[in-house]
Amino acid sequence: MKNKLINIRTEALADVRVAGTIDALEDIRIKYLGRKGALTLILRSLGNVPPEERASIGKLSNQYKSDIETALDDKKNELTHTSSGGMIQKQWIDVTLDRETATARESLGRLHPITQIQYEIEDIVTSMGFEIHDGPEVETDYYNFEALNIPRHHPARDMQDTFWTEDGNLLRTHTSAIQVRAMEKRKPPFRIVGPGRVFRYESTDASHENTFYQVEGMMVDRDITVAHLIYVMKELLKEIFQRQVTVRLRPGYFPFVEPGFELDIHCLICDGAGCSVCKQSGWVELLPCGLVHPNVLRMGGIDPEVWSGFAFGLGLNRLVMMKYGINDIRHFLSGDIRFLMQF
Ligand code: DAH
Repeated sequence: MKNKLINIRTEALADVRVAGTIDALEDIRIKYLGRKGALTLILRSLGNVPPEERASIGKLSNQYKSDIETALDDKKNELTHTSSGGMIQKQWIDVTLDRETATARESLGRLHPITQIQYEIEDIVTSMGFEIHDGPEVETDYYNFEALNIPRHHPARDMQDTFWTEDGNLLRTHTSAIQVRAMEKRKPPFRIVGPGRVFRYESTDASHENTFYQVEGMMVDRDITVAHLIYVMKELLKEIFQRQVTVRLRPGYFPFVEPGFELDIHCLICDGAGCSVCKQSGWVELLPCGLVHPNVLRMGGIDPEVWSGFAFGLGLNRLVMMKYGINDIRHFLSGDIRFLMQF
């Protein structure tokens, strides 16, 4: 009986030693210590053992039972640790990995160059006391034309052809519509800018797109003159280009301003000497502007006898093209990642 017990113990401990999984350990426990396990059967049959041996066999059986239990527990601990250890090794992610050295950096996105310059301009003009306003891209005839002194049958409508919706609205042709909306919201004096995307029915080529970006500006106060307009425009352009710029005004016709101007700057590429960018003229047309027409103020609910103002419409595509020497406006909406990655 004693030998049988010793064999069971030796065999059980050997089984435990080679077990590779927690499930295998459970099988071993059942095999030796379960209800019909080898050791259990011996303990149960103690009644048949001669009385003089019973005590010592009983003691030994209990001793071996606890040896096997301890071995099972130890092995279980060992397996749990190595398997979670293995998992840690396999699935380890260094969440502290430096972004600069991570390869993921290559696929990070960035702001479109037009958005970048829009944000720069917003920073500059807000520091000059302008508020940023917004408006819808699908506009009504009233905001895009009528309230800007371009009545329904006026030939000036032909200056801007656009896309109409079936219910009589249109994709806005310019951000000037934002001026009108701003006049309804603000009492003078005020200064606002309205950046946004605009649309024209246009045949495209290197310098024409059907979709482009502008920033509208408007200042209304008492006794505003062309001198105020020129000063603010020069300050704005100086900040955008980070250098002094020479400007000139030419007469320009826009129904919503009187007088209206085309503001040119001395070509920044050749400093006015003449080059291919300025077509040898030394000047680049950059910024249409003027003093707000009294009809426009009136329609915006502002008394032109008391208040006056200036307005401007800055084209962002042209600005970015000059800044980076981009030769085709169609790059902006091409979605070509090689173009966009350069900014
Ligand atoms: N809205 C005009 C356009 O897109 C540009 C413009 C001209 C805006 C003169 C103005 C302005 O505010 O005063 O062609």
